[in-house]
Amino acid sequence: MTKKLKFDTLQYLDRNESQYGPSPKCFEFLKNVTLDELSWYSRDFEKGYKSSLSKRLADDFNISERQVILSYGSEDLLKQIIHYYLDRKEKILIPKEAWWYYKKVACEVGGFNVEYPMYIGEEDGVKTYMYDVDKMIEIYERERPRIVLIASPNNPTGNRIPSDKLWQFLDACRGALVMIDEAYWGFGSKENDYVKPYIDEFPNLVICRTFSKYYALAGCRIGFAFAGKNLEELINYSVRYLGYNRISEKLAEIALDDEKYYDEINFIMQEDKEYMYEEFNKMDGFTPYKTYANFMLVDMPKTIRKELKQFLKERNVLIKFLDEEAFKTEARITLGTREQNYYLIECIKEFLKSK
Ligand SMILES: Cc1ncc(COP(=O)(O)O)c(C=O)c1O
Repeated sequence: MTKKLKFDTLQYLDRNESQYGPSPKCFEFLKNVTLDELSWYSRDFEKGYKSSLSKRLADDFNISERQVILSYGSEDLLKQIIHYYLDRKEKILIPKEAWWYYKKVACEVGGFNVEYPMYIGEEDGVKTYMYDVDKMIEIYERERPRIVLIASPNNPTGNRIPSDKLWQFLDACRGALVMIDEAYWGFGSKENDYVKPYIDEFPNLVICRTFSKYYALAGCRIGFAFAGKNLEELINYSVRYLGYNRISEKLAEIALDDEKYYDEINFIMQEDKEYMYEEFNKMDGFTPYKTYANFMLVDMPKTIRKELKQFLKERNVLIKFLDEEAFKTEARITLGTREQNYYLIECIKEFLKSK
């Protein structure tokens, strides 16, 4: 792409929203929404399940519909789980290099965070954060937290936990409720086969997903989870007598049906990731990290952050310059459309040339 690009409005590459939007079939459905979805509660409960979406997910994953939880995005799942299970003064184990929001929820119920660190390695010639499972088990055994949280892929680092390591870890912490946050599922791999054996084997496990990221429905606020057999109380707690958002549920089902649309976007995004690793690696003092999500963590010289932020703002691009205990010199960049990605790289190059 050699054409000089320009954007006249602000491009939000700061909150990991899809820049491509959902399947066009979602817009078709919205044009034809009926009184049913707008004015009436669902009557799906008469058929013996929560909704056609939970039934669909149960069938797709071969898991009992009872064990499928629906929610107002995965933020809602995170809150429900922590608010329901974490008592005052109890501990939750979370990654040190985590989404800032994880660090906040335990405090809402008087609980404590205990953090486990990741380490930096290399994969396919690109720097990457990695889960240190032996260390995690050591901390788990010492601290005995009530809840353990793993994000795969993790925000903002973009790495995932390999399945053999995950099994080893889950096996070691059967005494806790373990939540795996898979909000960024789909971008690195669309594997689903492990869900049933994991849920069957680990009765205290919840695997949480969302339609916000891969399916580009963040504004619809819809997420789901699979809960292990010991989590009957969580399942009861999360059930909504009057049902869920019928429009969001329908949009989610339509998105699930249009695999082709999402595969095509993801293919372009994978190519763009390769392009961005290459470009950032050529820039002095910049380090991109391997990502399995729709964003990329990039380390850069601390001295340029303020000016670069301003420079990009003047050119209508917003990326997230992190300023947290674990990230003082990194920015998290949401992967955009091809045009947006190339534009961002061009802007950064222009900035560096002007120095
Ligand atoms: C790691 C992680 N989990 C969960 C969420 C919540 O997403 P949602 O509530 O839209 O499903 C986000 C949002 O950015 C996230 O980064």
